[in-house]
Amino acid sequence: MADTTTHVYGKSTKTEAKFYSDAKEYWDGLQPTIDAMLGGYAKISPTDIDGSRAFLRPFMKISGGETNSNRALDCGAGIGRITKRLLLPMFTTVDLVELSQKFVDAAPKFIGEESKRVGKFTCSGLQDFTPDVGHYDVIWCQWVLGHLRNDDLVNFFRRCKKGLSEKGIVVVKENVTSTNNSDFDELDSSFTRPLDVLVQLIQNSGLVILKQQKQKGFPKGLYDVYMFALK
Ligand SMILES: C[S@@+](CC[C@H](N)C(=O)[O-])C[C@H]1O[C@@H](n2cnc3c(N)ncnc32)[C@H](O)[C@@H]1O
Repeated sequence: MADTTTHVYGKSTKTEAKFYSDAKEYWDGLQPTIDAMLGGYAKISPTDIDGSRAFLRPFMKISGGETNSNRALDCGAGIGRITKRLLLPMFTTVDLVELSQKFVDAAPKFIGEESKRVGKFTCSGLQDFTPDVGHYDVIWCQWVLGHLRNDDLVNFFRRCKKGLSEKGIVVVKENVTSTNNSDFDELDSSFTRPLDVLVQLIQNSGLVILKQQKQKGFPKGLYDVYMFALK
């Protein structure tokens, strides 16, 4: 039977099902563009990708680290911005999981020729998704985890932990608030959490923080963005 318990989300009270369906409705209504992926800030994409590459590189075997570069998973992938610019240049194959069918459909064209090295395009919410066990060298989660309720996020992290190969890592890159409370965005039905709440949820899942770093070079007025490497 459907869970009809209501919860407070910002100024509204709704069921868990509505929290998730509101987000789906929002994303399904957008065009499959970089600008839509980044809330009108397409111009920050190169800085974002450069920061991600610099953060990830030291973990990789080819740069003296321990992590293999066979398989990556892009979570909440949208049209494949991160897959195309960051992951496919570093990994043999990349899988994508994304909520909106519209973005999944647009991804191969956006990624272009190299999309032949994408293994699976999966249309699913992360709250319902389980990575294959022991499969991924890197599981990349960026600008999507605010779409999961706390308990769903902890459970998703646990499934990601099981989805890692030997020396595999999960990378989380998310906005954080500078206040003590989570902000709820009524428009896209997502939370932005304070840094310590995000850290606590990571720890609750049993994942261990190997490295934590603030992204530099984004325009003033945006939320701070933090990257975490987890195992
Ligand atoms: C801000 S965009 C970021 C896209 C991509 N990670 C990037 O950085 O280019 C958020 C993406 O998460 C997807 N999304 C929203 N809720 C989701 C959920 N519960 N599970 C999986 N994907 C979700 C949206 O459809 C959208 O493509």
